[in-house]
Amino acid sequence: MTPSEATDALEEAKREAGERAVEEVRSGMRLGLGTGSTVRYFLEGLAREISQGRLEDIQGVPTSIQTRERANALGIPLVGLAEAGELDLAVDGADEVSPGLDLIKGMGGALLREKMIVQASHRFVVVADAGKSVDRLGTRSPLPVEVVPFAWRSHLSLFRRIGARPVARETGDGELYITDNGNLVVDLHFDEGIADPHGLDALLRMRAGVVETGLFLGMADTAFVAPSDGQGKLQIRRRQKETG
Ligand code: A5P
Repeated sequence: MTPSEATDALEEAKREAGERAVEEVRSGMRLGLGTGSTVRYFLEGLAREISQGRLEDIQGVPTSIQTRERANALGIPLVGLAEAGELDLAVDGADEVSPGLDLIKGMGGALLREKMIVQASHRFVVVADAGKSVDRLGTRSPLPVEVVPFAWRSHLSLFRRIGARPVARETGDGELYITDNGNLVVDLHFDEGIADPHGLDALLRMRAGVVETGLFLGMADTAFVAPSDGQGKLQIRRRQKETG
């Protein structure tokens, strides 16, 4: 495959996954609208169904300013999370998807609002291309961690102690990247991946000054994973519910 064919196949995978998620939407739903290049296709498909009258009375809750602007431009009715209360369904992308549907998210910087919207949703559907599938979290993507700007460098020694290589996220201009919430993001790189995602998440979230991590553990119900090489069929993966 040439580089341009590979880019086209990846874009087609994002489109296929995003479009498939539109089929999960019913009239009257309150929807969490994720962030990123895969969700973009979900938003376009949703807007098309609304404008053609096949979906009515939809209210969307955007996970980022970027998604709010995109949804507004597409004519998707929006409402704030506090006003919406409980949501029927959240649809969002991911940076990594494990076999058990645990995720790393936040390379788009929207992790905090994304997690708040998922926790308010009865169901969470992930849309991704197959390149996001990993056996172990942290092997393909760093783990984004949102921190308050105050003395953020004071976290670096802890991050190194737990085996990570921390990199403060910057914009293309070399400025520190600022989230929609006015915070910073430190990306944690793990050479061997993350051995104990639950333990790591608990440790990081206990730390004053750490706002949220990009570990979405036990949150996704279904993932639509589309082949990114133009071969094969879209996979529908469902999380096994814990019993007992
Ligand atoms: C945004 O903060 C992220 O969590 C995105 O959902 C994630 O980065 C996936 O984005 P793409 O669909 O653009 O890969």
